[in-house]
Amino acid sequence: MQIYVESLFPTGVMIIDNFIDEHECDEILTYIRGLDMHQKDDTVPVNAKSSFDGVTDIVKEVSKHTAVDDFYDRTTFALNEYANVIGQPELKLSNSWSHIQYEGSYVVDHTHPNSKVSGVLYLNTSKESNNLIFKNPNPYCKIDAPVNGTEFNFTINEIPVGNGRLVMFPSWLEHGSNYNINKTQGRTMISFNSLVK
Ligand SMILES: [Fe+2]
Repeated sequence: MQIYVESLFPTGVMIIDNFIDEHECDEILTYIRGLDMHQKDDTVPVNAKSSFDGVTDIVKEVSKHTAVDDFYDRTTFALNEYANVIGQPELKLSNSWSHIQYEGSYVVDHTHPNSKVSGVLYLNTSKESNNLIFKNPNPYCKIDAPVNGTEFNFTINEIPVGNGRLVMFPSWLEHGSNYNINKTQGRTMISFNSLVK
């Protein structure tokens, strides 16, 4: 007798550690902190600001205005490494923005409309930083109360964050902080969306 379990419909999330090194991280942080177009963002309604409505292509701006001049190309390359894994055609960045969270903020659960793949690069985190929390897109996982937790009944899944870590995911996959309150002062990220090239 042979017994085995197949995982039939997994959702791929790509994590790239050290996407930028410590020095590059500092360069980009300094640039972002100097931008004056960060505004209130409905996705992070309290104690946070974002360039979402101001600089709509922060990845390109970082390439232009910092020593990390290959940042746009590097990000596009990583995006397409992931696109290949999930069977998407060649993608291009469509918009990107920076966001800064202060203590007491939280990220409302959301998806990224009008985008194929989204990503978030962590620039300033701490040991206290909340994980990035994804919701299980399979509604049936919630129907029967499980007696023990397995990968087949998780309603959420968490990705720890860290400086220089890039996380890419399908734009339809709901995510947020699950109402966990941010304890990192100046938690800073760059996020991006993409479309078919
Ligand atoms: Fe997001």
